[in-house]
Amino acid sequence: MEPAAGLVPHEVDIDAYAGNLDPCYAPGGDVTGPQVPGSAFVNQTLSYAQLAADLVAQPARWLVTGAAGFIGSNLVLRLLQLDQEVVGLDNFATGYSRNLDQVRGLVSPAQWGKFKFQKGDIGSPEHCREACDGARYVLHQAALGSVPRSMEDPLACHAANVTGFLNMIQAATQAGVATFVYASSSAVYGDHPALPKQEDQFGAPLSPYAASKYMDEIYADVFARCYSLRSVGLRYFNVFGPRQDPDGAYAAVIPKWIASMIQGESVVINGDGETSRDFCYIANVVQANLLAAARVPKGAAAHVFNVACQERTTLNELFGLLRERLVSKYPRLAGAKPEYRDLRPGDVRHSEANISRARKTLGYEPTHNITAGLDEALEWYLASLA
Ligand SMILES: NC(=O)c1ccc[n+]([C@@H]2O[C@H](COP(=O)([O-])OP(=O)(O)OC[C@H]3O[C@@H](n4cnc5c(N)ncnc54)[C@H](O)[C@@H]3O)[C@@H](O)[C@H]2O)c1
Repeated sequence: MEPAAGLVPHEVDIDAYAGNLDPCYAPGGDVTGPQVPGSAFVNQTLSYAQLAADLVAQPARWLVTGAAGFIGSNLVLRLLQLDQEVVGLDNFATGYSRNLDQVRGLVSPAQWGKFKFQKGDIGSPEHCREACDGARYVLHQAALGSVPRSMEDPLACHAANVTGFLNMIQAATQAGVATFVYASSSAVYGDHPALPKQEDQFGAPLSPYAASKYMDEIYADVFARCYSLRSVGLRYFNVFGPRQDPDGAYAAVIPKWIASMIQGESVVINGDGETSRDFCYIANVVQANLLAAARVPKGAAAHVFNVACQERTTLNELFGLLRERLVSKYPRLAGAKPEYRDLRPGDVRHSEANISRARKTLGYEPTHNITAGLDEALEWYLASLA
């Protein structure tokens, strides 16, 4: 059988775009970055700032899939603020046009003019091909998130997260993109007990969602081997921030709890509240995506990196942090306590990332820990969830 058009084993010129955008890494090695005088260490924050300046000086065309979702809309925002050309692809399965309206309100008309939205489905190879046309970088975020959703509908999870992923990675390969960055998840660690989680130690997946993200990593590896596609999987750990959906059965804990607290409803904790997570503010995730796209070392095959803060917060602690921030506006929260219910199947007990690999290879350095992230997002939460 003939290969699909453009899928040429080992003939993709992955370094065609490396040129001027990569001043901070030694070919084949780790980020060296602009050095701090008198220090042997990389100045990571400067490295990210330098990347932003490089992108402004030499704009590129980016495809963001899942652009109407939480993480996708934040990526679109940052890229437009850096004067990049951006194509957004989404079918509104779990995303909203209001997210893109918010982005529009946060950039200049000239920057908004560089955004093109394509309503489309990653289940369609044709939509994926159309979206990838002319893109230098792909930030693939579109998927059906949530462990419980995948437990209820594994086929829908597979269709979006595995078949849709395969359509996207094939389209990106055919289009000859420089880097394919995609959203993986801490869920791939499954039942492996080690803490903090290191990229090469993982156990059995505990849900169809975890299996789907693991499959994506396997396919990315295969595409690196067979077609020399440069790809980077980012294993996000519990991301939070503006535009994260507070509604529905599958909502993430932070916006859901804030909405409940503001609306005077009780907060439900699954388990005893000592379950812990490495909550990661959206600004850190945006940073990781940009660094991964433009700064991943040359000649590298498929990479995976943890994206988090390397800090663990229990759900009981999180409840306290949220109450503390809302109590001045909602004094009735002063004595509020959560309700405890049974643990959900498929959930892991503790999660914390080791972020050394992303620090060393990408120059990633989280700018916001959980408290700084909550403080920065508070205004949005108060305006949007009341
Ligand atoms: N938010 C987190 O804490 C977290 C953690 C780990 C991994 N992730 C991953 O990050 C990515 C983004 O997550 P998010 O939190 O922004 O979720 P989200 O639901 O807000 O965004 C996902 C977007 O993808 C779109 N989409 C879904 N199926 C599609 C399809 N078939 N075709 C086109 N678009 C489709 C949705 O409409 C939505 O806009 C996902 O891949 C998710 O699995 C998120």
